[in-house]
Amino acid sequence: VSFLVHQKESSRTESGCTPARGSLGGNKVEGIGIEAVSYMMASSRADFEDTPGSDLPTLPDRLSLSDFAMGKTLGTGSFGRVRWARHKDTGSVWAIKALKKAEIVKLQQIEHMLSERSILGSLDHPFVVNLAGTFQDDKYIYLVLEYIIGGEFFTLLRNEGLLDNEDARLYGAQVAAIFDYLHGKSIIYRDLKPENLLLDKFGYLKITDFGFAKVCKFKTYTLCGTPEYIAPEVLLSKGHGKGVDWWTLGILLYEMLAGEPPFVADDPMQIYQQIMEGRVVFPSHFDRGARSLIKKLLVADLTKRYGCLRGGAEDIKKHRYFKNVSFDRLLRRKLAAPSVPAVKGEDDTSAFDDYPESDGETEYPVYEDGVDPFAGHF
Ligand code: ADE
Repeated sequence: VSFLVHQKESSRTESGCTPARGSLGGNKVEGIGIEAVSYMMASSRADFEDTPGSDLPTLPDRLSLSDFAMGKTLGTGSFGRVRWARHKDTGSVWAIKALKKAEIVKLQQIEHMLSERSILGSLDHPFVVNLAGTFQDDKYIYLVLEYIIGGEFFTLLRNEGLLDNEDARLYGAQVAAIFDYLHGKSIIYRDLKPENLLLDKFGYLKITDFGFAKVCKFKTYTLCGTPEYIAPEVLLSKGHGKGVDWWTLGILLYEMLAGEPPFVADDPMQIYQQIMEGRVVFPSHFDRGARSLIKKLLVADLTKRYGCLRGGAEDIKKHRYFKNVSFDRLLRRKLAAPSVPAVKGEDDTSAFDDYPESDGETEYPVYEDGVDPFAGHF
């Protein structure tokens, strides 16, 4: 795998930080048209009406930064940061993701950013973070997302070390339900990791950060992801489709139950080597059903990987590990959550780690002859 250009990851102990994606970002991305966003946003929100927590406050159509009182940073990524915010007029609370235009242009990620905005706008699922609106100014694109109060699943996993089998099963089932839903809409997520799963006030998962997600009917060839979670076909540039998500579910299940991912090393190259060798060692305490499912997910041969077979996601949902999980009740949040965040009110941000409040740079766009350098890009 020596051909692989890899930019050093931010440490996995540094939560909320999707690793620098510059060298991993591909150039063959067909985002869906931005015009489609408002249409798609208007056409959703019906399926889970009776699910607690599916009621999103409304916001005016036209928004600007001055409409919000900005609060603590909840997470940072390569293009900007997510901050807690209160909408001044309505008092509703939000998580605003500010994407720095200069970074997006520099890293050639315009299409990824556009597809994040349009894909998120087209989704309506209890385990997917809701996008309520977007706006922009000279320097940033802003995504107004629902505020997910319980913090990152990464933090829970780090604090617990490893999870009980029953708890891992419920979280795993939620991720399976997410991928089943996304794949049904021909969307591949491509960046599953504990940092991208948030815990809502009920203790259920919400997946966030669609910066790598892609609308795709067939295989794609873009290289992206996080070393520990990258699938073999991604490393081999063989083209990859929905199977990459099922691979990452196998990694996540293993990490929840073992306390660390199956392929680990300080050097990403060594991780890639282990992935290609494909040898998974299970600790002796490992649940048999979990072991069986993980073995069916961490299969390099796409024609044999669970999720990619004729039965699709059903093979996974019907696997014996999930035998006693009612997906129907799960989707309606009727099953007891493993742990419910203790929060003091909707503006409580204590579940999120602290980040330095400024990235130390102010990059203003350079206007030559009064021309907006980003005009037409966004
Ligand atoms: N909603 C979307 N992203 C979020 C984040 N990182 N933290 C809290 N709520 C969010």
